[in-house]
Amino acid sequence: MADDLREVISAESISARVKKLGEEITGDYEGKELILVGILKGAFIFTADLARAIDLPLEIDFVRLSSYGSGTTSSGFVRISKDIEIDIRGKDVLVVEDIVDTGHTLKYLQEVLSIHKPASVKICCLIDKKERREVDVEVDYVGFDVPKGFLVGYGLDYNEQYRHLDGIYHLTPGCEPRAFRPSER
Ligand code: IMP
Ligand code: MG
Repeated sequence: MADDLREVISAESISARVKKLGEEITGDYEGKELILVGILKGAFIFTADLARAIDLPLEIDFVRLSSYGSGTTSSGFVRISKDIEIDIRGKDVLVVEDIVDTGHTLKYLQEVLSIHKPASVKICCLIDKKERREVDVEVDYVGFDVPKGFLVGYGLDYNEQYRHLDGIYHLTPGCEPRAFRPSER
């Protein structure tokens, strides 16, 4: 049986929302220089689109974080497997994340980034699952609230599948990845 996928956010809605977020961020950081720190791998597409919706002097970097465990649940144990390479001391940093779920990942990243003494650290996430929060994290910019369910597409994966889909889909796992014809996307 193949995985079952149902669209929850269309490519058009994502694109319109990202444009709005970009305008809001541009206004809030007027006169400043911003460093975007995208979290790999899930936020790679969101970071690329958001960066192009922001009209400010901008630098872009990435971190790679892994939480132990795989499949559709995240554990509370996070580690950094690729650190930032730009010097963020005294700079305004905006962390770009795909989904905030329990909050453990961002809580950990905030602690790691604060060691470098940035001027400010804010968070922009595409999807907030705030009902599932286990630790308190303040998210400054939210694309969409999605209460529950496992989501794939637009950078989000299930066992590394489906990152390339341009909408966001709710996934019910089967035993094999579902094939996509170009006409479906
Ligand atoms: P947290 O530490 O529980 O907040 O987990 C956040 C991380 O779990 C995100 O960076 C995602 O990579 C992953 N994650 C949480 N929910 C989903 C989902 O529905 N689809 C894909 N990845 C998810
Ligand atoms: Mg992630």
